[in-house]
Amino acid sequence: MFLLKRLAMPRLFVLIIAAKWLTLCFSAISLAVDPLQDQSSRLAEQYIANVRPLMQQFCLNCHSTAMQEGDLDLERFATTSEMRRDTKAWLGVVEMLDNGEMPPKESKQPTPQQRQQLRDWVKRFLDSEALANAGDPGPTVLRRLNNAEYRYTLRDLTGVDLDPTREFPSDSAAGEGFTNAGNALSMSPALLSKYFDAGKKIASHAVLLPTGFRFSEFNTQRDWTDEALAKIRDFYRQRVDVVELGNGTPVVLNLYRHCQIGPAKSAL
Ligand code: HEC
Repeated sequence: MFLLKRLAMPRLFVLIIAAKWLTLCFSAISLAVDPLQDQSSRLAEQYIANVRPLMQQFCLNCHSTAMQEGDLDLERFATTSEMRRDTKAWLGVVEMLDNGEMPPKESKQPTPQQRQQLRDWVKRFLDSEALANAGDPGPTVLRRLNNAEYRYTLRDLTGVDLDPTREFPSDSAAGEGFTNAGNALSMSPALLSKYFDAGKKIASHAVLLPTGFRFSEFNTQRDWTDEALAKIRDFYRQRVDVVELGNGTPVVLNLYRHCQIGPAKSAL
């Protein structure tokens, strides 16, 4: 009996804890209201209740689907869902309300409070949209590297600054003034053939080795040999004392010392 109790107690505990945990989880789920979602549904209600009637009164007689003065149809925004698909139009609305250009002078004007109410709501709507989309860079275009990126990528890959972009047309800056905006980095047939030429040029700098290949700043067999010999000479120059006689003959001093005074002392 005692043994049974000892076995049963921990199980009971586990069950109680598990049950508590589950109820906690469920209550957390039911309590968690997304503040953004909350704000969005409040804005949607206010649009129908207050904002749309004001627009009806002061804007839609000119900006209806039928009229579209200034190519602007504000009637199509029946709910905030439609607005969400074209927030750009609403940036214009805020601007017009702020500078007092709309409604035009000769039309029925909203009271300052009504204008403020309309403007504040649109501003809050745009802010909440910006917040909801924060961190989203928008559509990104599949693009080529710009000239600087291409040059430095190749330098990093080959270890040699070959800069084939000297032959490329310079990159045009987009409206923002940056040369890495996808929309401005177009590819023309002429540039594509320059890319092929650049590829061939870079390949001609590849030196085949028994263990693979390396890139050289040169592209002829002769230069590669000289490059290798210079490296070997450099290596030896660090380890031997070489003097050149009057007739240009190099003399390795270490060897002479070695012969004359013996290996032990010449090492000093
Ligand atoms: C009496 C007619 C009339 C009323 C009422 C009116 N508008 Fe306009 N709206 C125009 C006309 C006409 C233009 C084009 C002006 C231009 O191109 O110079 C225009 C242009 C605009 C534009 C610029 C569109 C663009 O893309 O260039 C916005 C935004 C705008 N109106 C918003 C409003 C808002 C908001 C209201 C209500 C508060 C309103 N308008 C009321 C006639 C009206």
